[in-house]
Amino acid sequence: MTRPLLREPKDRLIFALDVDTIEEAERLVKALAPHVGVFKVGPRLFTSAGPLVLDLVHGMGGELFLDLKFHDIPATVAAAARQVARRRVKMFTVHALGGRQMFEAIGRELNEMTLIPGAARPTILGVTILTSHSQAELTEMGFERPLPEVSLRLAQLATELGAGGIVASGHELPALKASLPADTVFVCPGIRGPDDAVGDQTRVMTAAQAIRAGATYVVVGRPIRLSDAPADAAQRFVDEIARAEAA
Ligand code: C5P
Repeated sequence: MTRPLLREPKDRLIFALDVDTIEEAERLVKALAPHVGVFKVGPRLFTSAGPLVLDLVHGMGGELFLDLKFHDIPATVAAAARQVARRRVKMFTVHALGGRQMFEAIGRELNEMTLIPGAARPTILGVTILTSHSQAELTEMGFERPLPEVSLRLAQLATELGAGGIVASGHELPALKASLPADTVFVCPGIRGPDDAVGDQTRVMTAAQAIRAGATYVVVGRPIRLSDAPADAAQRFVDEIARAEAA
């Protein structure tokens, strides 16, 4: 697993394309491509627009992060991973709870398939415990150990089994960085500027704090999308990343 080549601060900004239509997605990608390195497509847009939206983003010069959080039997997820690689996706999410056999099947599938010329092998990002879960919910589901311990164990397992990175809150980074391989990619959502609405996120951080804590990428959605001037808002995050890198 080689660390991604992040040439410029903007390469570390992931924009969450959480919209309903391909037209809205196209408008945003057009406006934001000069300011954003990676576009994240999740279940909302993928369900409405389908894989064509991936071709659209790629065609407009954006890198792709497919955030569908796969969790199924090994054969099903491995076959889905093959389709992901064919769409020139840079990274995609898989639930660490899928376990050893699922990760091994994905690894075999990606090793055996022939990538299309110019396409790199996509990075598998492990999802541990969703940041929306509380300890009470975890206990209710039968996980008796403390949430941070479960989360760390799942991150260790995922990276041992071939995940190149982990999706994690910036608050979890110190514990994760201490226990995971040095080249692990960390993708941090829950990023807000000082004046941004927090919305339904609970434990937010600024982009600079996340970068200083060791984030490889920061994910920003609403603070850019709901802004009156999304390109300016995105550029403010890029400038903040640049200042944090220089500090
Ligand atoms: O709008 P906002 O900046 O809160 O968007 C954050 C994005 O990151 C959303 O697409 C959300 O689904 C995703 N995400 C998250 N927390 C996680 C994993 C993913 O907010 N733990």
